[in-house]
Amino acid sequence: MQAEGGTGKMMQAVVVERPGGPEALAVRELPVPEPGPGQVRVRVEAAGVNYIDIYHRSGLYPRETPFVPGVEGAGVVDAVGEGVREVRVGDRVGYVMQPGSYARYHVVPADRLVAVPEGVTAEQAAAVLLQGMTAHCLACSTFPLKEGHRALVHAAAGGVGLLLVQIAKMRGATVYGTVSTEEKARLAREAGADEVILYTEKDFAEEIARLTGGEGVDVVYDSVGRATFEASLRSLRPRGYMVSYGQSSGPVEPLDVQLLNRHGSLFLTRPSLAHYVADRRELLERAGDIFTWLQEGRLSLRIDQALPLERAAEAHRLLESRATSGKVLLIPEQRGAGGGLSGKTGR
Ligand SMILES: NC(=O)c1ccc[n+]([C@@H]2O[C@H](COP(=O)([O-])OP(=O)(O)OC[C@H]3O[C@@H](n4cnc5c(N)ncnc54)[C@H](OP(=O)(O)O)[C@@H]3O)[C@@H](O)[C@H]2O)c1
Repeated sequence: MQAEGGTGKMMQAVVVERPGGPEALAVRELPVPEPGPGQVRVRVEAAGVNYIDIYHRSGLYPRETPFVPGVEGAGVVDAVGEGVREVRVGDRVGYVMQPGSYARYHVVPADRLVAVPEGVTAEQAAAVLLQGMTAHCLACSTFPLKEGHRALVHAAAGGVGLLLVQIAKMRGATVYGTVSTEEKARLAREAGADEVILYTEKDFAEEIARLTGGEGVDVVYDSVGRATFEASLRSLRPRGYMVSYGQSSGPVEPLDVQLLNRHGSLFLTRPSLAHYVADRRELLERAGDIFTWLQEGRLSLRIDQALPLERAAEAHRLLESRATSGKVLLIPEQRGAGGGLSGKTGR
């Protein structure tokens, strides 16, 4: 049933004992977990760092403590539990929205795994699955973009942002991106954004009005939340779609629904990836598209940082302080038999 690890063996993992700042992320030795019925143990080669990990760590999204953070990973199936038929020891797999990936080994339900195709590394899979499928949901399902649509993408040089800009362009939209620095503006343009606005310097709603001849955009994909919400509504055309999918600057204040009327019969949704991949067929379709686009070179991936588990606090600090563009990864220390990737730092 198992190739390495197993009862009595220990592994390195990041643990949050009490919610708090990045210093709440401590490396500990934990027992290697055993897969139960329908579960699989993955030897994690790369764990994705996502904003949701910050919300778990800080307690904004409460989790029972102590817990191992991280909800995204990729690696090799190391052991399978009873009744698992879909995957075998040695298969290369990735997964999202499964708590506990900042660890050397992670037990996940077999029916939540996606196969990582030949030619896609574990690092690439852990870098693209969560943010790529989020971008896929937003651009293809939440507000399905078509030729001629105008879309405003906030934090366009961020992890989701860079992927969303590329997918929106694939679907024929005109893309307006917002970023905080000239360097991020360059990256957003490289990803395909038609216009980039430095929202730290200019009122982006005014810029959108100017750039669209006063018409506004069809959709705003807003991951920034509190700081951008109101001006995002002002950027929309009547009957436009406000897609509020994140809160990097803080949660959006409760709102009076009359606001949607005042801004022109707007639609408002607050989508979550979990609800767009709950169905296994949908999960496989979205992951399949993302991997295919990556393999065909239609989607390019920017890995900003790949740090060892011991530097999880630094990874969070960088993401929270707006210092990253693209993906942040944690690479668990590779110990004992089984080999795999060696810990690496930098780009
Ligand atoms: N709904 C879902 O299912 C789902 C799934 C994935 C991600 N998300 C959300 O999408 C957002 C982006 O996630 P990500 O992992 O791709 O992160 P990210 O965009 O790479 O990083 C956050 C970015 O937000 C911008 N930002 C603006 N104001 C900020 C502030 N006060 N503090 C920090 N950042 C600020 C920064 O870009 P600039 O420097 O250019 O302003 C920063 O780089 C997060 O809110 C996350 O929760 C939601």
